[in-house]
Amino acid sequence: MSVLVVGSVNTDLTVRASRIPGPGETVLGGDTRTSPGGKGANGAVAAALAGALVSMVGAVGKDVFQDVALSGLKRAGVDLSGLLTLDAPTGLALITVSDAGENAITVASGANARLTPQHLPGSFGGFTHLLMQQELPPEITLEAAKRASAAGLMVLLNAAPSRNTSPELLRLTDHLLVNEHELAALAGDGEVEASARALLGRGPKAVTVTLGGEGSLTVTAGETAGETYRLPAHPVNAVDTTGAGDTFCGVLTARLCHGDTLEAALRWAGIAAALACTRPGAQDAMPTWEEVVRESER
Ligand code: RIB
Ligand code: NA
Repeated sequence: MSVLVVGSVNTDLTVRASRIPGPGETVLGGDTRTSPGGKGANGAVAAALAGALVSMVGAVGKDVFQDVALSGLKRAGVDLSGLLTLDAPTGLALITVSDAGENAITVASGANARLTPQHLPGSFGGFTHLLMQQELPPEITLEAAKRASAAGLMVLLNAAPSRNTSPELLRLTDHLLVNEHELAALAGDGEVEASARALLGRGPKAVTVTLGGEGSLTVTAGETAGETYRLPAHPVNAVDTTGAGDTFCGVLTARLCHGDTLEAALRWAGIAAALACTRPGAQDAMPTWEEVVRESER
């Protein structure tokens, strides 16, 4: 039982400011923070911290940002035998976090954007779950979904950041994870549950919508058809939500891999994601499994 993550690896350059600047505007912020990020690596680290065996396929460049980008993955014990060093800059995310805890992110994809289907491992045997996001070129994401699906893996897709998700990729996805913006981009404006259900008709057997302070909503098709899971947000004092969604996806994947029911896995994911908002940074903010368990008993 183990997890394969095919996704982005970035170094995050974060600055806190009273608010996020608008076009043409300059705001004075605090000191910069340099920390490991990337939606792919964030999910991989979260899954590993939650106890899963995790392998990561991704790429960094040969530059000063490589070490930071890989530091969290190494610390969490993620298998990096599928990690490539390409002739391109390491992915960089330029992040502004406001005093309200909200963020605005610009990603310079660098090496992540150079990945092609030929960089995928020959065999997906040995893995039970594939977790992906939308920070890599669509071609490699689609090919990974095809191979995973053919090999019987459960395919989880976090459709973040929002970009054209092909109908084919949706069809190959078992569990789709989106926030409200990504949901609207895929299903149009509408009531959250109805929109999520509409997506079930396009391939996924489960659709989870993360709703920030409102928790999460999951609808399912197939064997558990008609089930709706509404989980309230775990109350915390949020200082930085960067990577909270990635934490949710990683922990959900790890717990499903562990054999938890969907409802239990969603509950663990919600607690871990909430805890990740209480500290600055993405991977740096993720809770250990002991912390998640302790928080669940609070
Ligand atoms: O989801 C948060 C992540 O988005 C950051 O770590 C940043 O690297 C971007 O990929
Ligand atoms: Na955080």
